[in-house]
Amino acid sequence: MGVGRGYGKLLLFGEHAAVYGHPAVGIRLDEYLEVEISCGSAPDWSLPGLDEPEASLIRTSLEGLPGSPEPGVVRIRGTLPMSVGFGSSAAFCTGVLRAAGFPGDSLALWEAAHRLEHVFHGTPSGIDTGLSVYPGASILYPKPPALPDRAPARLPPAWLLVGALPRTSTTASLVTGIRTLRDRDPSRVDAILCELGSLSRDAASLETCPDAASLGRLADEAQTRLASLSLTTPELDLALAALRTSGSTGAKLSGAGGGGAFFGVFRDEAGAASAARILRATLEREKIAIVHLTVVRIA
Ligand code: PMV
Repeated sequence: MGVGRGYGKLLLFGEHAAVYGHPAVGIRLDEYLEVEISCGSAPDWSLPGLDEPEASLIRTSLEGLPGSPEPGVVRIRGTLPMSVGFGSSAAFCTGVLRAAGFPGDSLALWEAAHRLEHVFHGTPSGIDTGLSVYPGASILYPKPPALPDRAPARLPPAWLLVGALPRTSTTASLVTGIRTLRDRDPSRVDAILCELGSLSRDAASLETCPDAASLGRLADEAQTRLASLSLTTPELDLALAALRTSGSTGAKLSGAGGGGAFFGVFRDEAGAASAARILRATLEREKIAIVHLTVVRIA
């Protein structure tokens, strides 16, 4: 039937705060999942190479495709690591819609991908699918159950070293953990979530964030708050410390935490590339696995 690409995302600011209505800022990554659908007349979808329960979730999402295509073979390949906070389920949703020949514009694609993503996450915020559809940087204001409002974000000229460690928890359990913390101490947790939202606003404005030094400072401020919500791990702390001592202006986790995605901010590409070498050596020495490491220009 066709082949379609869906891109991954990197949340820069606002993770967890977005669950409580605060804005989030992120970028679309170049890393993608490519979905190939070959339609047939089999009784069910075949997903070579995929294990349960992932295959079963994907089968359910295929039943929700517009036009209800005949079941066939679905192959997924690409450069985006799965389940570490780079939005692989959103990338799959946009990729499979494009593979199925979805005819709409970006907003229609976002709406359709958001509907499909309910199969993977009971109540997706729409942030990952929005970041997957729109190129560049965005600021998103959650409006559940509707899609968030989205505007392009103007980020300062900077380079990011983007990496991921294996995850020790799922997004669902980390989100539940914050809910439990908030039930116990609502005034402290709400104040932190509010500050995280305000850091998103600051990062998306060149007046408050004109350069890589300011962006790094905001990243460090957000990381302090995320750590105070117990979202970091010793391995992640070690990676972020290595980035800070190798020239980063600031560094933080990205996404739900518990390991997973992270980034450091740099003034130039050479600085980010040199920090990548130092980080790899540090993690290797400590026998910490790394899932992904890449340098990204943001403006
Ligand atoms: O699952 P991740 O790591 O891509 O990021 C989830 C971001 C959260 O704010 C923790 C959850 C959400 O739905 O916004």
